[in-house]
Amino acid sequence: MKRVIAITLLCCAPLSSALADNHGNQARVDRSKAVVQEFFGKLKGELEAAMKEGGPIKAIEVCNRVAPGIAHELSSKHDMNVARTSLKTRNPDNAPDAWETAVLKKFEERKAAGESPDTLAFAEVVDSGGKKEFRFMKAIIMPPADKMPCLKCHGTDIDPAVAAKLDALYPKDMARGYKAGDVRGAFTLRQPM
Ligand code: HEC
Repeated sequence: MKRVIAITLLCCAPLSSALADNHGNQARVDRSKAVVQEFFGKLKGELEAAMKEGGPIKAIEVCNRVAPGIAHELSSKHDMNVARTSLKTRNPDNAPDAWETAVLKKFEERKAAGESPDTLAFAEVVDSGGKKEFRFMKAIIMPPADKMPCLKCHGTDIDPAVAAKLDALYPKDMARGYKAGDVRGAFTLRQPM
């Protein structure tokens, strides 16, 4: 895939503001960040409600059905393709393409080089079958167990009943063994230009 314009590593404020006149792409970056916030906010709300109601077994349903539903809803609402991906997916449908794999690897390198995980994002205009496409990724970092319940289903110490349900639904699950602070994956957005 041919890269047309490398926009930014979005690592720091001066870089971002320097993009203000970059062919209008700063507006796309800002909009993408807002969509990611919306996705994460909705998912977090649904997840917390389900955990309260029926614990992690019930919440698996949220991740299994509700998360793809939210992605679908936001894709139509914002006229872009919104999804989640990871180098170690639970659902093979979320597997990264070549561009996403490269960006996820870069996120790991940037984090290892000392960059704050919270700012790991990347945007680029790519050539997709002769058409320009704006692509954006924002890393998803594993929060500590006292902040959010993510580790109950993606950590090292998963309750056997939860593990059994995950095994049944996702025979190819790779998304376990994470620690707080790890890059779990990323939100990934594509927009025709
Ligand atoms: C109750 C269990 C459970 C909890 C809690 C949970 N997840 Fe998941 N997670 C899943 C399941 C099930 C999937 C597969 C969803 C699908 O089929 O698309 C998944 C998928 C994902 C994916 C998509 C990539 C992949 O592996 O397929 C990401 C990213 C992710 N989870 C991050 C998180 C984060 C961050 C949290 C905390 C806010 C979290 N998860 C909490 C069960 C859980």
